[in-house]
Amino acid sequence: MSKKRRSHAWYGGKDRDGFIHRSWMKNQGFPDHAFDGRPIIGICNTWSELTPCNSGLRELAEGVKRGVWEAGGFPVEFPVMSLGETQMKPTAMLFRNLLAMDVEESIRAYGIDGVVLLGGCDKTTPGQLMGAASVDLPTIVVSSGPMLNGKWQGKDIGSGTDVWKFSESVRAGEMTLHDFMAAESGMSRSKGVCMTMGTASTMASIVEAMGMSLPTNAALPAVDARRMALAHLTGKRIVEMVEEDLLFSKVVTRESFENAILANAAVGGSTNAVVHLLAIAGRMEIDLSLNDFELGSKIPLLVNCMPSGKYLMEDFCYAGGMPVVLNELSALLRPANTVLSKDIKLYGEGAKCWNNDVISSFDKPFKEAAGLCVLYGNLAPRGAILKPSAASDHLLEHEGEAYVFESIEEMKDTINNDDLPVTKDSVLVLKGCGPKGYPGMAEVGNMPIPAKLVKEGVRDMVRVSDARMSGTAFGTVILHVTPEAQEGGTLAFVKTGDRIRVSAEKGILELLVEQEEIDKRQESWIPTPSRYTRGYAKMYYDHVLQADQGADLDFLVGKDTKPITRESH
Ligand code: FES
Repeated sequence: MSKKRRSHAWYGGKDRDGFIHRSWMKNQGFPDHAFDGRPIIGICNTWSELTPCNSGLRELAEGVKRGVWEAGGFPVEFPVMSLGETQMKPTAMLFRNLLAMDVEESIRAYGIDGVVLLGGCDKTTPGQLMGAASVDLPTIVVSSGPMLNGKWQGKDIGSGTDVWKFSESVRAGEMTLHDFMAAESGMSRSKGVCMTMGTASTMASIVEAMGMSLPTNAALPAVDARRMALAHLTGKRIVEMVEEDLLFSKVVTRESFENAILANAAVGGSTNAVVHLLAIAGRMEIDLSLNDFELGSKIPLLVNCMPSGKYLMEDFCYAGGMPVVLNELSALLRPANTVLSKDIKLYGEGAKCWNNDVISSFDKPFKEAAGLCVLYGNLAPRGAILKPSAASDHLLEHEGEAYVFESIEEMKDTINNDDLPVTKDSVLVLKGCGPKGYPGMAEVGNMPIPAKLVKEGVRDMVRVSDARMSGTAFGTVILHVTPEAQEGGTLAFVKTGDRIRVSAEKGILELLVEQEEIDKRQESWIPTPSRYTRGYAKMYYDHVLQADQGADLDFLVGKDTKPITRESH
């Protein structure tokens, strides 16, 4: 133990400060040799009863600790803010950057040499990665893991995806309210994250494809004993990573982001991955842009999971999980390091698929060219996103008349009106739901189909907004229109009756209105004043970047790896 570790500055001194740092820790019963210069491993935990998807993380932390002790390290668990996607208002995304600040400052301020990130629910994984990237210690991830498959009336049902379907069926009079309520308990019947390929499982799959976790982390169910074993092995590995000085930035490079984009396309991953990857890249000062997501646009869909397919994460796990996907993608994967100090291709090497109806081969995919599609045009000069694998083929090339909702409240108040002047060919437009407008860029882009059309059997329409949508959602939904309406983007000037053209093939989103007329509308436009005048929400509003820059706060981009030299006493 000749090399002085980062933690030495806290626990190595024979002076008053060293006494203070060690002595207070000893009140927990740690012996002298815990401070003998061994790697001190922080376990950054987003456990919370208000984040039900992360409620299994206390047990997993114990698994990590076993591994850290076994490898000769000293584990210390600490809490950070937790973000319960289904529980927070106005939206958990408003607080992703606050979690990232908490993670960054906690890691930096404490005397740890490496960190294990325990996250799972949608915003917890990216928030933790953003924060950890800005400190750049050896870092590894253990995810919550998905819930067991939902079960109801003899069928498998998927988190989120079936909620959207059931609620439309109730509105169409095809499902009773009693059945709707009864499905609740069957949908969420174990610990873990949404068991569809929603944002949580997308981010866990991406983490694995970026080599930031051990192989198989993405799909093992939360309650599978093998996840506890994975946590144990992760604890062992982070101690070795500290010995090897394998920093976050030595694992994750630009090539890792390209692999993430490829993997996201192959698994039919969430549109939310776009803003999260852009934000993490921003922290690492890696030049990633919306255009880079084109890399995934020609990648076929290999994973037949909801919302793009029919199976669930438990099935994905038993079919072989991410190692099979990485094996299928191996010819395309960029050479990139992993937490094992080995190339990412080794994560998939020799992986066998046990069910080709769940994971297809690259040559016989479930859908061709299913990756996210980036659209540009006068309606989205800085881009917008569409997920073709979850959209209706017949709407991917479409021109229709806009029907505009000026706010989320207006949409909710009027969407069920029998006299709403819309047809199945209308383009529903929603304003004021971007990073600043909502604020927090809520997952409201998949507006419900107007009730009168639901009754006629319409189940999908083109919808355009500056919002995001849940990774579990589906439909021909154009999201993240940038600049957002609240920033004075063209979206702010769309009026009911204007024509809008969409071409997924050509990557086009156009407002078919003369520029002169758009300019005229702009002259009389007044932005809605922010309702937040204090606290974090005000800071967020004043500093949030647009979606094409990852919606991080402008002053958080980049990193600070300078050692801390000042003492507290
Ligand atoms: Fe937490 Fe889906 S709501 S993972």
